[in-house]
Amino acid sequence: MKLRNTPEAYGAVAVTLHWLIAAAVLTMLGVGFYMDWLPKGDPLVYPLFQFHKSLGLSILVLVVLRLAWRLGNPAPALPAHMPRWERLAASATHYGFYAALLLLPLSGWVMVSASPYNIPTLYFGLFEWPHLGFVSQSPDKALYEDIAHEVHEILVWAAIALIGLHAAAALRHHYMLKDTVLTRMAPWMRRTS
Ligand code: HEM
Ligand code: HEM
Repeated sequence: MKLRNTPEAYGAVAVTLHWLIAAAVLTMLGVGFYMDWLPKGDPLVYPLFQFHKSLGLSILVLVVLRLAWRLGNPAPALPAHMPRWERLAASATHYGFYAALLLLPLSGWVMVSASPYNIPTLYFGLFEWPHLGFVSQSPDKALYEDIAHEVHEILVWAAIALIGLHAAAALRHHYMLKDTVLTRMAPWMRRTS
């Protein structure tokens, strides 16, 4: 398998980043809802929050790397049988993912920087990830926190909707249309035709 994308298939870098980020995002959704559901004083809340922040900020870094790689690596061409509306829907979903995957961690970072509790972010216990100075030192901290909280929550649901749509489309390509759209992103899967 080539490192770079070719006109027919995604390369190893794009495939690795896709599945690494997908697994991290699904983990983040689970951890996010679980820590939100736990009672405030539960001893698991603090470590789960630290994990949520660390993995979420890692997603931010990985998505920036992925976008940089993507700029130099055009996606393989979609199958010729795909109608225009499906091509548009696919690229709208992909743009939506990139926007959500940048704004989700950024809104989280703003939220923790604006928090009156001023809890440090210990990146996987290794070092302290800084707060955003323009937020933590702003007189409008409360406003930043409100807006970031709202944005985080809306994007969580937007991301869930996108994942549902995206996974359903990928499975439809594989099992119903029997084309190569899924296998070129999941090369270990077998073609169904
Ligand atoms: C792709 C990355 C992320 C995903 C998918 C994600 C997902 C979630 C989910 C599902 C929740 C619980 C439901 C909700 O309150 O909306 C949540 C809450 C939260 N997240 Fe994230 N998150 C991400 C990144 C981050 C980052 C990087 C930070 C901080 C550095 C962060 C900070 C928070 C905080 C503080 C809450 C609690 C909000 C509250 O008080 O209700 N998140 N996140
Ligand atoms: C949190 C989960 C996921 C995220 C954030 C995500 C995100 C993305 C993004 C941004 C792309 C566009 C890649 C590019 O820049 O060209 C993409 C492509 C793709 N994804 Fe996902 N994905 C997720 C889960 C899945 C799952 C569960 C499947 C399979 C069931 C899947 C199958 C695919 C396929 C087949 C493509 C290639 C589509 C094409 O060739 O145009 N993804 N994904």
